[in-house]
Amino acid sequence: MSGVPPASPVAVCDSASLKEQGDGIRFELDFGGERLPAFAIRIDGVARAYLNRCSHVPIELDWIPGRFLDPESMMILCATHGAQYDPRSGRCLGGPCRGRGLQRLGCEERDGMIWSWAED
Ligand code: FES
Repeated sequence: MSGVPPASPVAVCDSASLKEQGDGIRFELDFGGERLPAFAIRIDGVARAYLNRCSHVPIELDWIPGRFLDPESMMILCATHGAQYDPRSGRCLGGPCRGRGLQRLGCEERDGMIWSWAED
């Protein structure tokens, strides 16, 4: 236990707005003392959230806002140099991420809403 109270969940969007293998929903949350960009996507019916920050260079992943997935929805792609991440886990699949995955966030669907929070 670090003694730091858990972060309050952020309301990301209503459940219906997060489409299966569709565009991600961008939001911001407090992480490590900073207000940072993040996104949620839905894969296999499950809402998942990550910081919107490539592990190669800490810049946002999407080139068109909300467009995180490749055309086949098999991976999250960084628009800048093509790092590839598993959308189910954030694990690096190839490219400049060199084994470093995305920062996962807590994510839960409750009462018709998507909620997210910072996790260690
Ligand atoms: S900044 Fe994402 S691959 Fe280089």
